[in-house]
Amino acid sequence: MINVISRALNTCSVSENSEFAARIVEMGKRCRSFLNITPDDVQALRAMAGRVAASADAIVSAAASSLLADPEGRECVQRSGLTLERAAELFKYWLAAVFGGDYGDRHAILVAKIGLAHVKSGVKEQLMVETMGTFARELAGLSSNTAEAVAVVKALYWNLSIMLYSYSIVREVVRKRAIGVDEKLYERLIQVFAKEVYGELSSALKEAEKQL
Ligand code: HEM
Repeated sequence: MINVISRALNTCSVSENSEFAARIVEMGKRCRSFLNITPDDVQALRAMAGRVAASADAIVSAAASSLLADPEGRECVQRSGLTLERAAELFKYWLAAVFGGDYGDRHAILVAKIGLAHVKSGVKEQLMVETMGTFARELAGLSSNTAEAVAVVKALYWNLSIMLYSYSIVREVVRKRAIGVDEKLYERLIQVFAKEVYGELSSALKEAEKQL
């Protein structure tokens, strides 16, 4: 499975690729621990799997409707050539992993790979966050107790966090290859400019508030 990520990141050297794959595995563990995803949570998700599968058509169709009702979402769907049938198939495949996965290393790699597919298709991170929100909205009513509801929240954040980590990794690779800026230098640049940019943007927000 680690090779899957390595292949997807074939712009790097072999050692860089396995380093990134290892980082994804590490991220999966760190995020699982941060969110405190326990074996009981994994069990709670599995207990919901049948209910979710039975409602999958409705969940997927509601998420797709929200995406298509949004100008950016619609534009992204059209540009990527994604059909509704294909989207439904992919969403269902992912839902099966959310409610049947073990939140271990292989699962983290599978989710990172899904994230990479979106970077490749030019789907903006904002749309990923919002679409995850539509899944949260649709799944909220399917839990039969608080433990299940909490497990769903943890699971969706874990998925989103790993998908977005794929975006950071691609950005990191591109920055390094295209403009020769490595991650530490980039982080330092952000620190150097952050205060100045923060000042400008907060003034702009204050001005905007006054106009409201
Ligand atoms: C929580 C949000 C989302 C989930 C869970 C999800 C799920 C998936 C999955 C499982 C795949 C297959 C990835 C792979 O090949 O390994 C995929 C691919 C794709 N998704 Fe999403 N998706 C989400 C949001 C979006 C959004 C907002 C768009 C915007 C149009 C989008 C467009 C695509 C496209 C174009 C592909 C590639 C299609 C293909 O391989 O035929 N997805 N998605």
